[in-house]
Amino acid sequence: MSSRRLFRPLLALLLIGSAGVYSAAKAQTQPKAPDTMEARVQGCTACHGSHGQGTDNDYFPRLAGKPAGYLFNQLQNFRDGHRKYPPMNYLVTYLSDDYLHQIATFFSQQRPPYPTPAKPTVSPATLARGQEIVLHGDAAKQVPACAACHGKALTGMEPAIPGLVGLHADYISAQLGSWRSGTRRAIAPDCMHTIATRLSDEDVNAVAAWLSTQQAPQNPVPAPARSLKTPLACGSEPQ
Ligand code: HEC
Ligand code: HEC
Repeated sequence: MSSRRLFRPLLALLLIGSAGVYSAAKAQTQPKAPDTMEARVQGCTACHGSHGQGTDNDYFPRLAGKPAGYLFNQLQNFRDGHRKYPPMNYLVTYLSDDYLHQIATFFSQQRPPYPTPAKPTVSPATLARGQEIVLHGDAAKQVPACAACHGKALTGMEPAIPGLVGLHADYISAQLGSWRSGTRRAIAPDCMHTIATRLSDEDVNAVAAWLSTQQAPQNPVPAPARSLKTPLACGSEPQ
């Protein structure tokens, strides 16, 4: 393992606490540890889980099973400042595209079980509003159904649309908020920016709440590329 590659995951471990310090010390005495993918992503797992399943923390997102193209775009976005979360920006600052591709492919192939869906904490009317927007959209506001692009099963579509199941409500609403404020950007045309700016705060809360209570399907793989005709153009998704 080159020292640069070793350095990044180790820093992440150090950030995370005493267990990390111990592993870092151990790794320094074994500089020729095999350069496996598991070793490379060790610094990621404290927050994203050993198989990218996410952690009990209310915010850290699931990575497992999301299309590799989507994960790669996000790693690039963090590296290039189109998404902002300081630990993430920091961890990927010096990683090459090739390395980011390998990490993205690794997590896209993981299939850990999904967490138990969240118990609803909002009113039945709010949940119903969320379900309506996700499955049917809101024609008056020109909001297409989320399922039109994220798939009926909400498992996303290859190569670059993520699944929306297995995520925390706080994470989902924060992402939609970031698109509205411009701190999260995707490849132009940024269809999610267009959609997020058409949603009210109540709509955002409703979709986030409903999505977080959904059970993942038996076979949670993303839909094949081009199997859905997206109602708006998205720069990250080939037409
Ligand atoms: C300190 C905790 C932490 C560590 C360590 C960490 N992440 Fe993250 N990661 C996050 C959080 C929180 C987000 C969501 C940030 C946001 O946009 O609000 C995130 C987002 C992501 C995303 C985008 C997910 C999506 O669905 O859009 C990817 C991909 C990712 N991380 C990969 C990694 C990789 C690879 C590593 C190791 C090199 C890593 N992360 C290390 C906390 C962490
Ligand atoms: C026209 C297609 C399209 C529609 C309709 C759509 N999305 Fe998206 N969505 C995308 C694409 C493409 C991405 C990936 C953007 C990127 O590369 O960052 C995305 C990403 C997301 C993410 C980020 C997930 C993560 O892990 O960080 C969330 C959350 C999201 N969409 C929610 C929604 C909701 C809620 C709706 C319905 C109100 C919706 N989307 C409708 C195309 C769409």
